[in-house]
Amino acid sequence: MNSYGHFDDASREYVITRPDTPWPWINYMGTGDFFSLISNTAGGYCFCRDAKFRRILRYRYNGVPMDAGGRYFYIKDGDTLWNPGWKPCRTPLDFYECRHGMGYTRICGEKDGLRAESLFFVPLEHRCEVHRVKLSNRSDRPKTVRLYAFIEWCLWNASTDMENFQRNLSTGEVEVQPDAIYHKTEYRERRNHYAFYGANRPFDGFDTDRETFLGMYNGFDAPVQALAGTSGNSVAHGWSPVAAERFDLELAPGATEELIFVLGYVENPADAKFSAPGVINKTAAREMLEAYSTGVRVDAAFAALRAYWDDLLGRFTVASDVPELDRTVNVWNQYQCMITFFMSRSASYFESGIGRGMGFRDSNQDLAGIVHMIPDRARQRILDIAATQFPDGGCYHQYQPLTKRGNNDIGGGFGDDPLWLIFGTVAYLKETGDFSILDEPVPFDNVPGSEVSLLEHLKISFRRVATGLGPHGLPLIGRADWNDCLNLNCFSLDPDESFQTTENVAGGQAESLMIAGLFVAEGKDFAELLERLGDADASSVRSAVCAMEDSVKKHGWDGEWFLRAYDFHGGKIGSRECDESKIFIESQGWCAMARIGAGEGLCDKALDSAVKHLECEHGLVLNAPAFSSYLYQYGEISSYPQGYKENGGIFCHNNPWVIIAEAMAGHVEDAWRHYTKITPAFGRQSHDLRKVEPYVFCQMVAGAEAARPGEGKNSWLTGTAAWTWKCVSEFILGVKPQYDGLLIEPCIPLRYGTYRIHRRFRDAEYDITIRCTDGGPGKVFIPYSPGGHVLEVTV
Ligand code: GLC
Ligand code: GLC
Repeated sequence: MNSYGHFDDASREYVITRPDTPWPWINYMGTGDFFSLISNTAGGYCFCRDAKFRRILRYRYNGVPMDAGGRYFYIKDGDTLWNPGWKPCRTPLDFYECRHGMGYTRICGEKDGLRAESLFFVPLEHRCEVHRVKLSNRSDRPKTVRLYAFIEWCLWNASTDMENFQRNLSTGEVEVQPDAIYHKTEYRERRNHYAFYGANRPFDGFDTDRETFLGMYNGFDAPVQALAGTSGNSVAHGWSPVAAERFDLELAPGATEELIFVLGYVENPADAKFSAPGVINKTAAREMLEAYSTGVRVDAAFAALRAYWDDLLGRFTVASDVPELDRTVNVWNQYQCMITFFMSRSASYFESGIGRGMGFRDSNQDLAGIVHMIPDRARQRILDIAATQFPDGGCYHQYQPLTKRGNNDIGGGFGDDPLWLIFGTVAYLKETGDFSILDEPVPFDNVPGSEVSLLEHLKISFRRVATGLGPHGLPLIGRADWNDCLNLNCFSLDPDESFQTTENVAGGQAESLMIAGLFVAEGKDFAELLERLGDADASSVRSAVCAMEDSVKKHGWDGEWFLRAYDFHGGKIGSRECDESKIFIESQGWCAMARIGAGEGLCDKALDSAVKHLECEHGLVLNAPAFSSYLYQYGEISSYPQGYKENGGIFCHNNPWVIIAEAMAGHVEDAWRHYTKITPAFGRQSHDLRKVEPYVFCQMVAGAEAARPGEGKNSWLTGTAAWTWKCVSEFILGVKPQYDGLLIEPCIPLRYGTYRIHRRFRDAEYDITIRCTDGGPGKVFIPYSPGGHVLEVTV
């Protein structure tokens, strides 16, 4: 099974043992506002703050060969040119290993007795990547080698960089110092930022003009200069600026040489841009180069990075008898939650970094995965998101991280959006107990002077959905609900328009049972919060929730499961009466999490139906049977081939909804089985079948009706991370943060039912040994109190 790599739990690394993985297996670096994507062959790019507007390295998406562009070391040893990460030359290596760790990647290659160990990380303190490469001569002969360090600059705006050639092939400018190359494209005018690639020793030759380094018709795999062991000492004027730095090294047998590189980004104050007319003020860059100029300094920065992650990941740990569970909980799930929080859905090997900013809905859900680690940043994120809301409770669907301003680039008017603000805020409050956030003044649409309290935003959000009901008393879906592709008011017949942005037909009355479930679940939470605050609106929230429950029971129950929606004309969607897509997952998950009709057995029935009709070998599919043709009244969902994405794919994001609902219903084995199916550490799919990284969740795994069921796509940036975290930490392991303490209420098969949890909660530390028994009390409440607590709990 593990043909391409394995977990190293002790060092919290995933070890990739061959470079030709079925898809580039990537990692992320960065913790503040400078981020990098790095593949197992050192491909990828970096940016500061915004993957679209402040792109530093150029990258070729979906290129041929795959994964072109990155930070490449070329080693010229005799007649052989090779890379420690195998790509781009793909010279066969005698040894290869890539270790993706928490915020860093190590790549080691060996060829003909020369070993190259490289370490890449983004330090905590600076906006840069640090690259350290150690070359060791393990042969018994002296070696004369040339090392080239190479990167290609992106001309800042990643979008126009790929489009506006009439301009940008003339704009590239560089400056060269003996040990550093500076990318100063457009620095002369409106930009006051530049990037640089420097080394801790002067180079023996360089190129900054791509054509001179590679040759006009060569790829990255055959740079003419490196093949010849030369440099053109070229200075780029327009075209495509690069940084290619050559070092001539003599290595005695057993000798090691270490070189350190800094790939940095600097913003200068407008009045301190230049040190002389037209010459970059390089003070900040020189400081950064100095900060990482020795191995000792790099070691210290790297140790600080490791300590940062040790601290974050030390806040919730489990020690159980299931290693797959432990490595998911202790390392990879939490790490993925952090990355998803940082990136939202902007930059991955499936998201170009150009198209999507921070989603209103997505970012609120992401909070549930990180609030226990970085509560302060969660707080800020909530306030940023709320500030993009409109006075009527409607929302921009996304905002751009650089400006924090909302935009409608990927549509607006999604019926579920406002409720997620309640979801995110409640998660924050239960974790932190910091009610002061509710009093924070927050504007509408970022307009100064329009501020109301965050609590008022929540009320407006709730009211927006409570008053936006359709003919059956169910929430109007708008452009779509959580399922972006269920476009019931759109009727698109034009292949050139986007389902996400096209004008909807006026007067659309389509209603969503997914939003109804979300409304009831979040409404109950909101009412509880208002009651705690002694706020008189609590009772009207409660009655709106009750009314919704009635509407669902009356108009949303199909006999064996919950309907999915009513379409524009009032027709049922997700009903046994339908020809296709008779049942959908989202309404089963949400209505059952909201416990609608639980007393009458509706939740149990709905969950059993989900198992019966939606479960397959690799998880629960979204809908079944999938749509077999395009149906313009349903929209984008039916545009996908069967078994993929929202049309019958295993959309992993929504599987935890069912798992949580199963746990709430006490269906222990069902919850566990669903969880192990979608969690990659359990290794249900071979690496070749899964294709994408075996250490992170995917947005989607191809479903039963697909051509290749089990094949993963859209790894890394997905709400799956936060939802599986919530699911495993709160519902399977059963550690639920509450306003006044921790509620221990596990749902795990008895055979795994004894485990230890370490949980930091606010300023307290809890060491809890949990023993699940048959017929125990089911749950135990641990009141919050500061200090350290060692507890044994039998449930
Ligand atoms: C994508 C979107 C998310 C949406 C989901 C289902 O993951 O980021 O907002 O809910 O697709 O369509
Ligand atoms: C497409 C995708 C969906 C995603 C949306 C974002 O509709 O199918 O998953 O959420 O685009 O714009």
